[in-house]
Amino acid sequence: MPGIHPARDNPVRHWSGPGARRDIEQLVWQMPPDPRGEPVSRITVENVTRRYGDVRAVDGVSLDVAHGDFLVLLGPSGCGKSTLLRMIAGLVPPSDGRVLVDGNDVTETPARDRDLAMVFQSYALYPHLTVERNIGFPLRARKQRKADIRRRVAEVADILDLAALLDRRPRELSGGQRQRVALGRALVRDPGAFLMDEPLSNLDAQLRTATRTEITELHRRLGRTFVYVTHDQVEAMTMATSVAVLNRGRLEQLGTPTEVYDAPASAFVAGFLGSPPMNLLDAEIVSRDGRLHAVAAGVDVPLGQGEPGDQVQRPAILGVRPEHLSLRPASSDGTPPEAGAPNGAVPDSAAPAAALRGTVRTIENLGSEEIAHCRVGAAEVAVRARRPAGFTVGQAVVLTVRPEHTHLFDRESGRRLVWQPDRDAQIPAARVPVAT
Ligand SMILES: Nc1ncnc2c1ncn2[C@@H]1O[C@H](COP(=O)(O)OP(=O)(O)O)[C@@H](O)[C@H]1O
Ligand SMILES: [Mg+2]
Repeated sequence: MPGIHPARDNPVRHWSGPGARRDIEQLVWQMPPDPRGEPVSRITVENVTRRYGDVRAVDGVSLDVAHGDFLVLLGPSGCGKSTLLRMIAGLVPPSDGRVLVDGNDVTETPARDRDLAMVFQSYALYPHLTVERNIGFPLRARKQRKADIRRRVAEVADILDLAALLDRRPRELSGGQRQRVALGRALVRDPGAFLMDEPLSNLDAQLRTATRTEITELHRRLGRTFVYVTHDQVEAMTMATSVAVLNRGRLEQLGTPTEVYDAPASAFVAGFLGSPPMNLLDAEIVSRDGRLHAVAAGVDVPLGQGEPGDQVQRPAILGVRPEHLSLRPASSDGTPPEAGAPNGAVPDSAAPAAALRGTVRTIENLGSEEIAHCRVGAAEVAVRARRPAGFTVGQAVVLTVRPEHTHLFDRESGRRLVWQPDRDAQIPAARVPVAT
């Protein structure tokens, strides 16, 4: 049955502030069914490129967004996130490649005929229209009945805590309120998928955190496909079911938040995620005494058992997350450090402790923990430690890491070096690097 029917005895929730809103699930439940049948679910991007003159804003990207996924397009400014999202929306035509919705090629289909709703970074509200008319705009454009539009706008406004603001114009609203109007305009027609371009970037930090939670909850309740653009790794880690990390128009990695954090496919991904991000040091992989080491000035990290006669000599990038490093004072006689450390690392008996030698340069107090920035050779290395870690600026320190917490990347391509179990090795956890 078309229209939304008031359900006064619904459970009441709060968007923010004192205004009550009805349970979002109820709204969706009461939405009229899409006359074209089932909502869109799956979005496929096939080898899509967008050129602007000599610039490849998006360069050969392929992605598959499954039904109900929350895909975050993550990357630094200018990496092609918005261009990719706009090609999915139908606002920018690809130079090459195809966009499919539920298996149907929509590359040539205009935006209004794709069952997708877009929320823009700028909100893109009509300044001369009231909140009510901004939210109702997609329904008026589809020539729905006036009474139906009014009812549905009221329902959405109630959910988003905008009911008292329906007569205002965008300039009379706060940033957070404008953001909710933009969200309302997307919600009002119950699209198959939501496309959002940095929708929280104009909000202050506190409101951003609150709204992040609300959008995640909205996704869970609606069960719709979301494609969400952000340069903020915290948004990506907390909201996404899958993350596509973009760099210079190319897809660096597609994976769950856990996968991209724990096993970054490239040095770029490793250095983009984490706060502070993964420490990346130029090092050589060398074979010594049947064991492989990553070696650089101030760095000697045993990686695992090598093959007898290994001729490895490979320029690599050694990656270690700040939380996987342990700090201890350097002993004055220069003896090798023991595994284990004041900030709580568990010693690894199977492998000798990895040693990075350096000096504490600065200490950042984050309240619950602190970040010690240490100079190691020519590199700067961040260490995350519980407070109080008891170190002082200028102190000579040894940084230890367990071999399984090290990451290796090819220095030339930046790609992750793949390690395979060495079946013949005496130590069960031993690994050898495989060139990719
Ligand atoms: N309409 C356009 N004309 C020319 N260059 C563009 C246009 N849109 C985007 N670009 C360029 O494409 C690249 C990617 O832009 P964009 O997709 O907006 O990146 P992001 O959203 O990740 O910040 C940038 O180098 C940008 O300057
Ligand atoms: Mg953008």
